[in-house]
Amino acid sequence: MGDDHEDPDDRPDRPRRRDTAKRPVTRRGFLKTAGMGALAVAAASQVAGMSAAPANATDAPAASAADTDAVPGEETARVTLVVNGRRRRLLVEPRWSLLFVLREKLGLTGAKPGCERGECGACTVLIDDVPRYSCLTLAVEADGRRITTLEGLMDGEKLGPVQQAFAEKDGFQCGYCTPGQIMAAEGLLRANPSPTVDDIRRGTSGNLCRCGAYANIVASVQRAAELRRGGAAPGGAGGGGAGAGAAADRARGGAGGGR
Ligand code: FES
Ligand code: FES
Repeated sequence: MGDDHEDPDDRPDRPRRRDTAKRPVTRRGFLKTAGMGALAVAAASQVAGMSAAPANATDAPAASAADTDAVPGEETARVTLVVNGRRRRLLVEPRWSLLFVLREKLGLTGAKPGCERGECGACTVLIDDVPRYSCLTLAVEADGRRITTLEGLMDGEKLGPVQQAFAEKDGFQCGYCTPGQIMAAEGLLRANPSPTVDDIRRGTSGNLCRCGAYANIVASVQRAAELRRGGAAPGGAGGGGAGAGAAADRARGGAGGGR
C-alpha cells in the first residue's frame, strides 16, 4: 500500500537531485517536515503553557516578561470581543480557540472542554445569538462579535430562565454537558420562542449527553420556553433545599462539570 512505496529519491541507484528549489515535494519529504514542525510546535506550546500567562485583557495586568518571551509581538493579534455585554480587548495568538480564551484568559469557565474537536457540544456559547462550538472557533474569528456564555445568562446570583428550567426538570445527571445544553437551548429559544418537541430535538442535536438525560433535557427546554414567555417560576432560582441548591449549581456550570 501507499506507505510502503519507495520514494524514487531514496533509491541508491538514482542520482540525488540537488536543485531543491525545483525539486517537487514528495510525500515522504512532506511527512518528515511536518513531523519536525509538529515537534517544534509541541515544544513551543509546552514552553508557553509553563509560563502560565495571565489575561492580556485591557483590564488585566500588563503582560509579563514570560508572556513576551513565549509570544513574540508579531505573532499575536489584537481582538475585541463583546463578552456578556462587556467589551474585552485582548492580545491573542492566532491558534488560540475561543474556548481557551474564555476559560484561561477571561476566567469564564462556564463553557466546558469536552472532546475539543467539535463532537460533544460541551463548549457551546452564543456568537451573535447563534450557538457555536467555542472549541472550533478561533478567537481571531470572533473579533468584534457578541459572545454570550453561561455566566451571561445569570442576573446577579439569580439563574436565568433556561438555567432555572434545567434545575426544575432535572435536565442532567452528572452535569458536565449541562452548560452546553443550556446554551444550545438559549440559542434555540432566542430564534424560536415556542419550539415543538422536534424543534427542541433538532436544536439540541449538536449536544451529546453521555448520561442519556435527553428526555429531561427536552422537558427542561419546554419549561424554559414557558418561563421565557412569563410562566410561573415555582420555588425561584436555587430555592427549595439542598437538592435544589445542587441542581442550581449544575445549571450555573459548577458541580459535576468541575472547572
Ligand atoms: S468541546 Fe467543543 S464540541 Fe466538544
Ligand atoms: S448529564 Fe449529560 S453528560 Fe452527564
